[in-house]
Amino acid sequence: MTEEILRSTGLRASYITHLFGMNREVKVVDDVSLSIRKNEVFGIAGESGCGKTTLLKLIAGFCRPPLKVQSGSVEFMGDPGKPLSLLEATDEELYGIRWRQISYIMQGSMNVLNPVRRIYKSFIDFAYPHMGRMAEKDFRDSVTAHLDKLRLGKEVLDSYPHELSGGMRQRVTIGLATICSPSIIIADEPTTALDVVVQRETLGLMKRLQRELGHTIILVTHDLAVHANMADRIAIMYAGTIAEEGSTKDIFEAPAHPYTQHLIRSLPHIGDKERKGYLKGAPPNLADPPAGCRFHPRCPIAIARCAQEAPSLKACSGGTRAACFLAD
Ligand SMILES: Nc1ncnc2c1ncn2[C@@H]1O[C@H](COP(=O)(O)OP(=O)(O)OP(=O)(O)O)[C@@H](O)[C@H]1O
Ligand SMILES: [Mg+2]
Repeated sequence: MTEEILRSTGLRASYITHLFGMNREVKVVDDVSLSIRKNEVFGIAGESGCGKTTLLKLIAGFCRPPLKVQSGSVEFMGDPGKPLSLLEATDEELYGIRWRQISYIMQGSMNVLNPVRRIYKSFIDFAYPHMGRMAEKDFRDSVTAHLDKLRLGKEVLDSYPHELSGGMRQRVTIGLATICSPSIIIADEPTTALDVVVQRETLGLMKRLQRELGHTIILVTHDLAVHANMADRIAIMYAGTIAEEGSTKDIFEAPAHPYTQHLIRSLPHIGDKERKGYLKGAPPNLADPPAGCRFHPRCPIAIARCAQEAPSLKACSGGTRAACFLAD
């Protein structure tokens, strides 16, 4: 088995807000344990609001109020034999690993480039402080060479964000996140706002860069077709929990959790004659999630036990691990 680079164990976290005299706790991440390996693309899929971005924030060590961790840990194995607990690390320790070891392409990041700074200035603002004692001229040369790998000419460096297309801006943010060759790149919906042709090109470039530089990508998107093309392994999230995880092949060929089975069955195929089925109900309100398995109110095969007890992930015959009493 390839070496582990990041591990979360029993992670539970909530947004705790006090508004108009009312306390509200949104239980967004519930008992999430993941093991992410070196040099893999690890995909996280799940519907809107299921907690994907929140999980990424925790994994990246960005836990700020109102988000609060109740239990569990996140460990980064950057230095072999000396794991760093990202939830307990000091700001200094986190600064030391950001950009150089773990970088983060945030959701909607193509719109977060400073509109009044030329692109090169954004590289100076974000990446240059993390490049050690590199002379600025050498830095500019390395940014130019790096952007060339992302098919962006050097004139882009002197442009303002509004002068670039959405696809170009997204490639700039990918360039920003990869320029320091970090061990892990966390990418939250990096291509969702792009049309399918540009999306395909951008994902192809990300994958090529990943092979060349040999880093790990943690990729979040609700788009299973993107995962099918990019990910080595996938975790399927439902309402803050991991419903199933496994290799991309096993998830697509032998899904064991009823939720994953539904997602895979609902993918369109050329020549489909049958109407696609739908799941009754809606995802639960995370401020008041159902007891037991969070999927049970919508599950077509739920039994009484599902309403009382939350299942943990167990190995299934198809090769995946599913959080379901009845999987298999
Ligand atoms: N700052 C916040 N304060 C309170 N609740 C929040 C906050 N941010 C997110 N939430 C809630 O946490 C839940 C999960 O949000 P999150 O952004 O992690 O979902 P997501 O899976 O990334 O969704 P999407 O696919 O739409 O990006 C949602 O119910 C959301 O309303
Ligand atoms: Mg999100």
